[in-house]
Amino acid sequence: MTMPIMTAERQRLRVELGARAYDIVVGAGLIATAGHEIRPLMRRPHAVVVSDDNVARHWLEPLLASLAAAGISYHTVVLPPGEETKDLAHFGRLAEDVLACGLERGSMLIALGGGVVGDITGFAAATLLRGVDFVQLPTTLLAQVDSSVGGKTAINAASGKILIGAFYQPRLVVADTDVLATLPRRELLAGYGETVKYGLIRDAAFFAWCERQGNALCGLAPEPLRHAIVTSCQMKAEIVAGDEREEGERALLNFGHTFGHALEAETGFSSRLLHGEAVALGMVLAFGFAARLGLVAEGEGERVRRHFAAVGLPTRLAEIGLGEVAPERLLAHMAKDKKVRDGKLTLILPRRIGEAFIMRDAPTAELRDFLAAA
Ligand code: GLY
Repeated sequence: MTMPIMTAERQRLRVELGARAYDIVVGAGLIATAGHEIRPLMRRPHAVVVSDDNVARHWLEPLLASLAAAGISYHTVVLPPGEETKDLAHFGRLAEDVLACGLERGSMLIALGGGVVGDITGFAAATLLRGVDFVQLPTTLLAQVDSSVGGKTAINAASGKILIGAFYQPRLVVADTDVLATLPRRELLAGYGETVKYGLIRDAAFFAWCERQGNALCGLAPEPLRHAIVTSCQMKAEIVAGDEREEGERALLNFGHTFGHALEAETGFSSRLLHGEAVALGMVLAFGFAARLGLVAEGEGERVRRHFAAVGLPTRLAEIGLGEVAPERLLAHMAKDKKVRDGKLTLILPRRIGEAFIMRDAPTAELRDFLAAA
């Protein structure tokens, strides 16, 4: 077997989870050598690659060639693209299709795609044959900086999003920055929102770097892109290593998500508002609400809003057609958040750029007034 080509552009990080520890490899041209990365992790040289139509068109053949070159036999299952795929009906079909490929305990599932493919494939890996190994090959910026790392796997239920799932860690994450070239710009920007999140919750210097390099990154400049993915994955790896099952600090990764989720629900979880766009807007709202409570200086939120606007992310409710939305509607969506305990809302709020905290029992009357004026 030929050894993988190691280039200066390739960086390797580790998620330290004891027996479940794994590497994240970030760099250009990694799909071409993915087979050689994956082969040493396999108990049996057989893989089932799960992808979607959009991603498969560009990246499935190069991946299969790379698996073949590493002596790995494979089957493929290609799903329809989009969030609708993440339901029980599609999961049922996926499970049957994967089993029909001759899946054994020693086989490897490979998720080649964005968050939807990663989530549904990860959940298949967690459940089929009571657990098989899987590898994440994330193909969106959002998946590369967030959803492919940390082992959250889930599908949607009729009664709510991502309610059926498991914490189940991959054996390896391979983030090939070349694949982002075929990503629509709007998707790239949405992923950028989740990238900036790490600066806002934990690293003011990284946020300042984003202010300087954000436009170059969103123009796909290779070095800023690689730096941002590595920095984000490094922070995510540290957080997950310290709190795998979200009993503490990991909840900070949900910064902007409770507000964002309400906006997604109000826009019908449709292409009107992408998840990362909702999170960016949700983070701006979180700064605004924290300022109203006197917890953060007004100027901090304005700096964040200016940066998102500068790269082309929506930063005001009016921009997404929700300028006139009744605050009660958003509050009702927020009340269904998974973090609600005994009817009390938990929010992740900023103290300053670079530091966030968990507020349990957020004051709903204040929140209503804030949303009415937003
Ligand atoms: N996306 C948030 C987390 O993985 O915890």
